[in-house]
Amino acid sequence: TSERKFTWEISYQYKSLDCYKKLAVAINGMTPGPTISAEQGDTIVVDVINNLLMENVAIHWHGIRQRGTRWSDGTDGVTQCAIMPGETYKYTFVVDRAGTFMYHSHYGLQREAGLYGLINVSLPIGVSEPFNYDFDRGIILSDWFHHSAYQHATGLSSITFQWVGEPQSLLINGRGNYSCSGLAASVCNSTNPECLPSALTVISGKTYRLRIASLTSLSALSFQIEDHEMTVVEAEGQYVEPFVVKNLYIYSGETYSVLVKANQDSSRNYWTSINVISRQPKTPNGLAIFNYYPNHFHKFPSTNPPLGPLWNDTRSQIIQSRSIKARQGFVVTPPKKPDRVIVLLNTQNTIDGYIRWSLNNVSHTLPSTPLLIAMKENITDVFDPNPPPEDYDSANYDIYSVPSNTNSVSSSSIYRLEFNSTVDIILQNSNSMTENVSESHPWHLHGHDFWVLGFGEGKFNLSRDNQSYNLVDPIMKNTVPLHPYGWTALRFKADNPGVWLFHCHIEAHFYLGMLVVFESGVEKVGDIPMSNYGCGKTKA
Ligand code: C2O
Ligand code: CU
Repeated sequence: TSERKFTWEISYQYKSLDCYKKLAVAINGMTPGPTISAEQGDTIVVDVINNLLMENVAIHWHGIRQRGTRWSDGTDGVTQCAIMPGETYKYTFVVDRAGTFMYHSHYGLQREAGLYGLINVSLPIGVSEPFNYDFDRGIILSDWFHHSAYQHATGLSSITFQWVGEPQSLLINGRGNYSCSGLAASVCNSTNPECLPSALTVISGKTYRLRIASLTSLSALSFQIEDHEMTVVEAEGQYVEPFVVKNLYIYSGETYSVLVKANQDSSRNYWTSINVISRQPKTPNGLAIFNYYPNHFHKFPSTNPPLGPLWNDTRSQIIQSRSIKARQGFVVTPPKKPDRVIVLLNTQNTIDGYIRWSLNNVSHTLPSTPLLIAMKENITDVFDPNPPPEDYDSANYDIYSVPSNTNSVSSSSIYRLEFNSTVDIILQNSNSMTENVSESHPWHLHGHDFWVLGFGEGKFNLSRDNQSYNLVDPIMKNTVPLHPYGWTALRFKADNPGVWLFHCHIEAHFYLGMLVVFESGVEKVGDIPMSNYGCGKTKA
């Protein structure tokens, strides 16, 4: 194992990722940022230089558990003070297991401005995967808006609320194609080489491992390659019992490895396509070229791109969610019973006329003092010491109606979990403030993996539905979808001392309070670097 050092300069750049010129936040001039490739056990050191003139930065290493470096999680308000303009911050952490992970900004809505990338961790030399492939390729999926993150943030926190709307484009490896018709070439130029579709070049007969990460700020996606099947083999650092799909559903914050064999007509190219699911799509499909060597990599296939599944085929999404199980021989069985069950009802509400997202009627906020420092050092008056609710009044709540409680409360309260205890989380979906609409929410846990025990439709009922849990071969993940009008059950061991976020990975939902904070064993956290201090009540 070795140390891998990176120096990243964060700056504003004009980019034309979908032909439309937009101000992006880039790493060393690039968006998506550079891929971190490492070997299991390596120590990664990233010096982040904030050269943004007018905003802070914090970078989260999504899927890295930060065992031993709990202060390097990159969450402003939780583990560190955000990095201010002109300052440099050093992230140090160990990539302790092989798999496909990602990184992204955790500050404000900065992720949607393009600050994200891939982390690929390979096995040590001499150890092999339980499947074979010839080549490894990374694929970053994202969505792209023409309004700025600042306009979005303003609209979300205003009366009258202005939703971010649907993205203008979907990007594959940072490339999309917006129709520039009617726009001046200085604004949108469809011949700009920056927005040529990305190409994945393959050699006939070879098998490719595609490491796919969804870094969308809003959209759930379906990914597919025209006329090619995919075998799912890995999810977020865990081996999946292989299963074959025509299209892969992937939610923001998830990563998968799929194997694809280049076994079709090698005299032509094929389409790779992504389309929006779970929301009524107003965004054209994102396209890339699956290029058979030696055809030219920009030669468009003459066929029509695959349309993908219907956006509202929730059934098939649930079926795929249930198919993702731990690979035989690699199963880590969960504890038989939880020590505690926390039910979180997901609702959209208002607070004094502002639209917010709430869990059990509480919309969560983060303080300006990082909670990890506040809790470890007993700094008072940083957060609300009353525990947030463990449940909601399920007998009297109709998940199929627009919420009648129009006022929820905002709070900085924290779920304190007994160290090493086993916690079940039941995510319960409901109707949003729009009739007949229930959105899907990808929930992501920092610092841990959880067992995915089950998915269901309708209202969860503990004594009935816990019978259906998969306790035999559940996959462990860090991000999982909550499907419309459904529930998702998770189990994890609170065995990583620290303070950790659990939140919806839709950036605007997180921004609007769709998060909770877990603390466990904070007194066991070692010395926090001084560079994490400097804001709120941690000012020297
Ligand atoms: Cu990838 Cu807290 O997020
Ligand atoms: Cu959400």
